Amino acid sequence: MKILILPDAEAAADRVAGLIAARLRQAPATVLGLATGGTMEAVYARLIAAHRAGTLSFARARSFNLDEYVGVAPDHPCSYWRYMREQLFDHVDMAPGACLLPRGDAADPAAEAAGYEAAIAAAGGIGLQLLGLGANGHIGFNEPTSSLSSLTRIKTLTPSTRAANARFFDRPEDVPRMAITMGIGTILNADEVLLLAYGEGKAAAAAAMIEGPLSASCPASALQMHRKAVVVLDEAAASRLTLRDYFDCVHPGGREAEI
Ligand code: GLP
Repeated sequence: MKILILPDAEAAADRVAGLIAARLRQAPATVLGLATGGTMEAVYARLIAAHRAGTLSFARARSFNLDEYVGVAPDHPCSYWRYMREQLFDHVDMAPGACLLPRGDAADPAAEAAGYEAAIAAAGGIGLQLLGLGANGHIGFNEPTSSLSSLTRIKTLTPSTRAANARFFDRPEDVPRMAITMGIGTILNADEVLLLAYGEGKAAAAAAMIEGPLSASCPASALQMHRKAVVVLDEAAASRLTLRDYFDCVHPGGREAEI
């Protein structure tokens, strides 16, 4: 795992957006794995700004999002499809049909999940997977005790995850109980993963992910098994790392290592 610690959330978002943009400039036909959540809003805003400035195109890219709520149609105001349109898709030049999310309103959610996994494989797999981090260590909606080799499937959300996402809904009880999510195995199959977390609320999960045992109790710890995982944190999210001195020594100020 490459651990990059930036001074604050703004700098961390700058860094992640910069890494995504660099990848798209070098490989414009990249298959992106995309994430939702409050964390990503600053990243997408920066990508949109780069596109508007004429320095970044998504025209040859494709994307698969991590997850969607079961029972929620794409046009629902709280759907992840709606989030992605508002935060990114409507503002950049991705080709029509190039952006996929699981259909939360599929008549057969299990079949939808299996079909989604097959679609990722048919696209040649994910090139760069963007990830946020749940306060309980989840990635996508892979809650604690998820199989570390799981593929796209239906997961029941924990009460803490539903509470954390209640701010996006009118009423807490409106948060769906289940989601279709890429599995941890799906995420580990990506060529490269890029996880962003900021704020004190993510510090315990970040420490468990990076320094804790490989365990389904912290699904993000599975990234310890990935050959090319980059984790970008701000100071607050890095505040519980015991190996902080080492990370600073390898990547001072979050900069690339000098050989
Ligand atoms: C949500 C999403 C995740 C996201 C995480 C953190 O429940 N399913 O993909 O990374 O939890 O969300 P936030 O960025 O709002 O803290």
